[in-house]
Amino acid sequence: MDTSGAQEYDRLQELKTFDETKAGVKGLVDSGLQKIPQIFVRPAEELAKDLNYKRAQIEVPVIDLGDLEKTHRHKQIVEEVRIASETWGFFQVVNHGISLNVLNEILDAIQKFNEQDVEEKKKYYTWDNTGRVRFNSNFDLFTSRTASWRDTLAISFSDPDQINSDDLPDLCRKSVIEYSKPVSNLGNILFGLLSEALGLEPEHLRNMDCSEGHRFSCHYYPACPEPELTLGTVKHSDLGFLTILLQNQIDGLQIFFQNQWVDVQPIRGALVTNIGDLLQLVSNGKFRSNKHRVVANRLGPRISIACFFSGPINMDKVFYSPIKELITEENPPVYKEVLLSDYMTKFFTVGLDENFLVNYCKG
Ligand code: OGA
Ligand code: NI
Repeated sequence: MDTSGAQEYDRLQELKTFDETKAGVKGLVDSGLQKIPQIFVRPAEELAKDLNYKRAQIEVPVIDLGDLEKTHRHKQIVEEVRIASETWGFFQVVNHGISLNVLNEILDAIQKFNEQDVEEKKKYYTWDNTGRVRFNSNFDLFTSRTASWRDTLAISFSDPDQINSDDLPDLCRKSVIEYSKPVSNLGNILFGLLSEALGLEPEHLRNMDCSEGHRFSCHYYPACPEPELTLGTVKHSDLGFLTILLQNQIDGLQIFFQNQWVDVQPIRGALVTNIGDLLQLVSNGKFRSNKHRVVANRLGPRISIACFFSGPINMDKVFYSPIKELITEENPPVYKEVLLSDYMTKFFTVGLDENFLVNYCKG
């Protein structure tokens, strides 16, 4: 017998009604609602469990990439990257070479895209995961247990020099193009440092095409009237190799570390970098793809732009498995080989799942 009460409403119908508006969470907020709809309310047992966690006063490592080309500093940076990647799976980078102006412009443009006339925005609303530019709210709306308080514009491209700019929405075309190039460069630099931190040649991860594909998720988290009842993004780890995340000054990102939720304080001009599931896989578990989430906030909008590096976008017959140089008798492979296209299809089918890697790739 279902005694939860919360299940008595017609969830599927409410999801459909919400989806059909094509206006996302921003549309709900604009309608002036004071209580969040039931589809966004987390189950009572989940809310209760959350109350038990301590709030940590520790901070995610910050790595200064200035002077990277100076030999003594380079070594130290590789060491800092190694320690952060083996423990937190997260670090913030400063002095990364991308100007504050370029960062502010893209944050601004994503805000404008979301706050434009809804009829214009609806033109981009789609569930077709193969499209290069897609707007929707909760890509896993119909599979997740609880909907999240966020809308997302997703943009994917292979080479920043060959972005098909005609596909990009007018309001963010220029700033997306201007950000794509330096963030792609930074990805290449980080893959070099990560390779060295694994004791490999700097080219190793780049030669595996880890830095090839770029998938932007531009998130818009509207102010929420009941933030304690929902989440902006549920607990998950990222599926690709590496994520570079730009966030505005409204906080919300939390990392699950040493059994507690740690807030990632926004630092102006800094970029949050984290190891994804595929890098955990190819590093045979040496680097950690850590769980994280975004809490909802009474203040808003929170805007964040995640650039996921998850291997080639056109990915016929691309396989990934633990790097053989990292395998020894004492350190046998803990993950099996995955076919990238299957792995991606699985991800889009199951949605954000906090145990994705364990469930689908364990050897
Ligand atoms: C993600 C993510 C965090 C944020 O897109 O995978 O974790 O701050 N985003 O939006
Ligand atoms: Ni994430």
